[in-house]
Amino acid sequence: MGHVTDALDPADAPRDAHDAHDARDSRDTAGAPLEPLDPADMREQYRTRELITDDLAPEPIGQFARWFKETAANPAIHEPNAMIVSTADADGRPSSRTVLLKHYDEAGFVFFTNYGSRKGRELTANPYVSLLFPWHPLARQVIVTGRAERTGRDETVAYFRTRPHGSQLGAWASRQSTVIGSRAELLARYEELAARYPKDEQVPVPPEWGGFRVVPETVEFWQGHENRLHDRLRYVAEGGSWRVERLSP
Ligand SMILES: Cc1cc2nc3c(=O)[nH]c(=O)nc-3n(C[C@H](O)[C@H](O)[C@H](O)COP(=O)(O)O)c2cc1C
Repeated sequence: MGHVTDALDPADAPRDAHDAHDARDSRDTAGAPLEPLDPADMREQYRTRELITDDLAPEPIGQFARWFKETAANPAIHEPNAMIVSTADADGRPSSRTVLLKHYDEAGFVFFTNYGSRKGRELTANPYVSLLFPWHPLARQVIVTGRAERTGRDETVAYFRTRPHGSQLGAWASRQSTVIGSRAELLARYEELAARYPKDEQVPVPPEWGGFRVVPETVEFWQGHENRLHDRLRYVAEGGSWRVERLSP
């Protein structure tokens, strides 16, 4: 599965502040007047199987593996490995964004990013983090809390080498989360790099780029049901083993 930046067409993103302003106009993209859509009326009744403690894997990674496999098999879920990462700065101010899960095992959940980005800086100051997998078509979510640590350089380099050439250049071109004057500036930087490192030349791994491994402390499996009587089973790490508790929905 490729990194998202390989799949998204940058032409779809607003080009500058003027485009962003247009997007707020009261007309849709076809020019018709925009009817306000009231989210208060949106309501789904979930018809799903119960989740009981006896059916769970003995530890959360095993249970995650089961659900991840079912999610990946469901064509309604576009990027099953997309997860929302929430961090907080040293003053406790939170921020969230989507990233792609690239590896998981008993040691934790791994994603790659720029260490100088907002999330990178926040995790360096405060390693407490939350991950949320929003698998809405299955009426499921998985919520992980834990501590983030940087992956070893070898692991980062091994993953960087699997990325397409263009994404490797993109990692150099973008000083993630910093303000830039225009999209043209970003493209010019990319073109310079593409000239310096043609397709057959190895792109070095940017020093500021790498992985975070989220070592879980709790992992909640949430299954939606009718009448809001959802199942919430949470694994809690306790001295080297896991306890499971049921939460009220
Ligand atoms: C589906 C999807 C997947 C993404 N995957 C990643 C990723 O794996 N790593 C990453 O750094 N940014 C990824 N992004 C971009 C981030 O959401 C975010 O814009 C970027 O990391 C900067 O975040 P920050 O300024 O809060 O640090 C992804 C965005 C989307 C929508």
